[in-house]
Amino acid sequence: MPASAEFLCALASGIGARNILEIGGSSGISTIALAVAAKATQGRVISLEIEPIRQAESKQTIARLGLSDFVDFRLGDAAQTLPELSDPEFVLIDCEKHDYIRFFDMLRMYPGGIVEADNVVSHQLGTYVAHVQSRPGAQSVTLPIGHGLEITRVAN
Ligand SMILES: C[S@@+](CC[C@H](N)C(=O)[O-])C[C@H]1O[C@@H](n2cnc3c(N)ncnc32)[C@H](O)[C@@H]1O
Repeated sequence: MPASAEFLCALASGIGARNILEIGGSSGISTIALAVAAKATQGRVISLEIEPIRQAESKQTIARLGLSDFVDFRLGDAAQTLPELSDPEFVLIDCEKHDYIRFFDMLRMYPGGIVEADNVVSHQLGTYVAHVQSRPGAQSVTLPIGHGLEITRVAN
């Protein structure tokens, strides 16, 4: 697994997250990492993906690894799905970069939950970083792992 996937798994399982949300699953590398975390916590990943072919590929991989019990695949635009979801303890945002702020603001997080956003260094997502770092009561830090991760713990 790439370092960013190892870190993702370690962080989500380390905080004991049972309700895990992934925005932008693609063909499944991060989904595998989160599913391994969910297996460790006896939790579940809700994986949102808009492209049917990518999600089908991810489903096959997750099944082959025996992790299907830990992933709930939802096909469609996260903008439509997010309002139905509540209390995630851990969220990965890894979709279209211009949607990061919009989707972050749509989250109804479990108090003290953690949001990880990928590619904040490679894609120079300074506006997102400034947005989450100025959120009242939040702690947020940029980590130079992989393409750059913003780790934000939302207020209690
Ligand atoms: C960079 S890839 C995700 C990579 C994946 N997280 C990984 O590490 O293996 C971004 C994915 O987000 C999906 N996506 C983009 N906009 C979306 C949206 N509004 N709702 C759901 N998925 C979306 C794309 O189809 C694409 O597969």
